[in-house]
Amino acid sequence: MLRFEGVSFRYPEDTQGMMEDLSFEVADGELVAIIGASGCGKSTIFRLINGLEKPDQGKILVDQKSIETIKNYSAFMPQKDLLFPWRSIEKNVCLPMELAKVPARDQEKKATQVLEQVGLADYAQKFPKDLSGGMKQRVAFARTLLSGADMLLLDEPFSALDYLTRVEMQEWLLRQWEHYHKTILFITHDVEEAIFLAKYIYIIQDSRPFTEMERIQVPLDYPRKREDLKRAEIVELKESLIGKLRRSVSL
Ligand SMILES: Nc1ncnc2c1ncn2[C@@H]1O[C@H](COP(=O)(O)OP(=O)(O)OP(=O)(O)O)[C@@H](O)[C@H]1O
Ligand SMILES: [Mg+2]
Repeated sequence: MLRFEGVSFRYPEDTQGMMEDLSFEVADGELVAIIGASGCGKSTIFRLINGLEKPDQGKILVDQKSIETIKNYSAFMPQKDLLFPWRSIEKNVCLPMELAKVPARDQEKKATQVLEQVGLADYAQKFPKDLSGGMKQRVAFARTLLSGADMLLLDEPFSALDYLTRVEMQEWLLRQWEHYHKTILFITHDVEEAIFLAKYIYIIQDSRPFTEMERIQVPLDYPRKREDLKRAEIVELKESLIGKLRRSVSL
């Protein structure tokens, strides 16, 4: 579904390149996590995928087509929730449909459906200030879904939440993924979160520019349970990932 072919990129202000000759692939319907030290370029990968930045070299393909020739292939959920405080929850959720000029009646119907699906049907007429952090993230996720794109780019969606809420949201996200069959790329700082959610974990080394991402398969089937995290091989995997991240930080 998604393919980077020899992508190089440097921010104009930077003397060093961010990535060079980077190639990787994500298959249709997969849930993958991207981890790496702060500032290593995780969000930049998303900016390249959704076309906010253009590669200096190389190609980004979705379903074998250059992203320059296609539209609405990905939906981005940013690092912090970006609900508009002056819009009701329903109106926040409708925003991508408004931009796509979907007729008002259809907007309302779809918003009601998706708010039901994320467990917030009773909150349609409330405002962001009336919701907890986890609820706001669910609204932002609902809005991302309604863009209609098959690939969701989630940039540390749960990092601002308290531990228990985050754990609940992880389980919730897996259920949504199983329900909607979307391809999900998920950035996180949290190794355990990456293991619990992802089929593959991509690690960005903290060298500049980076030229590859190591890909590690998580040896767990879906549906997953939190108890799985206690298995010996998973505990070992977690320690090994933390070790890799630390090494990359100290370089
Ligand atoms: N628009 C920009 N212009 C110039 N430099 C930028 C821009 N956006 C990010 N950078 C720089 O590029 C580097 C990588 O940024 P990026 O946001 O991709 O990192 P990240 O891995 O997502 O970090 P974090 O974990 O802190 O979110 C950082 O050093 C940052 O300062
Ligand atoms: Mg980031």
